[in-house]
Amino acid sequence: MVTLLENPLRVGLQQERMPEPQILVIFGASGDLTQRKLVPALYKLRRERRIPPETTIVGVARRDWSHDYFREQMREGIEQFSDGLGREELWQEFSQGLFYCPGDIDNPESYQKLKELLSELDGKRGTQGNRVFYLSVAPKFFPEAIQQLGEAGMLSDPVKHRLVIEKPFGRDLASARSLNRIVQKVCREEQVYRIDHYLGKETVQNLLVFRFANAIFEPLWNRQFVDHVQITVAETVGVEDRAGYYETAGALRDMLQNHLMQLFCFTAMEPPNSLDAESFRTEKVKVLQATRLADVQNLDLCAVRGQYSAGWMKGKKVPGYREEPGVDPNSTTNTYVAMKFMIDNWRWNGVPFYLRTGKRLPKKVSEISIHFREVPNLIFQSASQQMNTNILAMRIQPNEGISLRFEVKMPGPDLRTRSVDMDFSYGSTFGFAASDAYDRLLLDCMMGDQTLFTRADEVELAWQVVTPALAAWDAPADPASIPQYEAGTWEPAEAEALINRDGRHWRRL
Ligand code: BG6
Repeated sequence: MVTLLENPLRVGLQQERMPEPQILVIFGASGDLTQRKLVPALYKLRRERRIPPETTIVGVARRDWSHDYFREQMREGIEQFSDGLGREELWQEFSQGLFYCPGDIDNPESYQKLKELLSELDGKRGTQGNRVFYLSVAPKFFPEAIQQLGEAGMLSDPVKHRLVIEKPFGRDLASARSLNRIVQKVCREEQVYRIDHYLGKETVQNLLVFRFANAIFEPLWNRQFVDHVQITVAETVGVEDRAGYYETAGALRDMLQNHLMQLFCFTAMEPPNSLDAESFRTEKVKVLQATRLADVQNLDLCAVRGQYSAGWMKGKKVPGYREEPGVDPNSTTNTYVAMKFMIDNWRWNGVPFYLRTGKRLPKKVSEISIHFREVPNLIFQSASQQMNTNILAMRIQPNEGISLRFEVKMPGPDLRTRSVDMDFSYGSTFGFAASDAYDRLLLDCMMGDQTLFTRADEVELAWQVVTPALAAWDAPADPASIPQYEAGTWEPAEAEALINRDGRHWRRL
């Protein structure tokens, strides 16, 4: 008998986490995300035998593709964007479960056709009416697709029917609320999986293990010992070919409101009673309820935006944001944001959280750093040396790991100190290769586990905390007033000032 199992060590785990046979319907199947991430992730899950062989994928998009053409496209995606096909038998088996159904988001007939195909496939493939509808379309189509799915009765079974919604969920508090209302009309919250791929990252989940499986850090994780926290998500890429979307989003909507806010919640939340979805998400909601921009009356002191101008990256000249194809030459869209938040609760009162993210920065790096207070009375006084405070840094990507900076005495007769790092690296300990996060999240969704997905109230609160900045920055502005930073350099001077004003500095990464 041919076995498709490639890693026998994983059998135990797989048996525990094998979802029921089901059909994943991907709306927007001709798009990038499907070919680059979703289908390669599902293939990986199948290769590792984490999903059953009956698993069926139906791609829906406007283009008039055949099943075979869709299979070809997906094959290319797996070959190009993942570890490859592996054994041909595995691909043969997997591709038998790939189907394509051309359709228009706003045409009720398309949903009827899809419905017929799905019940036909239930009979052929034994998928028992279990469905996951994955909306990987432009956000402006979310309301229509959700309403149509509802009207076609395709979300009517609260146990068997699930809905996955990609980010961004709304573009401000009002639109997020309205989208939530549309969703709530057609299905229950237990059926909804609002996805944020940062929560699928191994190191983000490790943050929870680090905090809640080790007794020694928790006593220090509060205002008594922590001076401030920095969260950085820096990217080297520019807007790429996404100007159409990015011009309406900017870094605040594209990154800070979702990915950075999630990192923020994981860092600041109280220990949940358990890892069940409700306890866990309730703790994140409590953090957001207590969070505010540091000084809403003086927004410039706690929120800075920026835009990259032309510069050099890896020895190559790159254009400024306003010169990118598809971007308005007078655009005021932010490609960089830095913000200072405060949390009004017992644990964090008075401890600033500085968040920053931007495109065309010198390095791709995401990190959370906890900066501890100075020692109360320094006995090693010397004019020639400067004592650094302890920093616990959690590297989300790349070189995933954790390091703790502390002071040591340098060898020799003089009492001189130096900062050193105690370092844990995933790579050297586990031979860890960063996964794309989608495999974990897709598996969780197929298992019906909502822990790593955003709840309705949570997504609204995440919009609410950034609302003062959104409101100010959405107003028409003189393009000359948007702070510029040269591509390939760190933040604009205004962002440096935001933290320097408090006598602190951004960590150089
Ligand atoms: C996406 C944003 O959600 O995250 C992109 O839309 C961004 O603009 C990307 O580049 C970053 O993700 P990662 O996993 O590469 O850090």
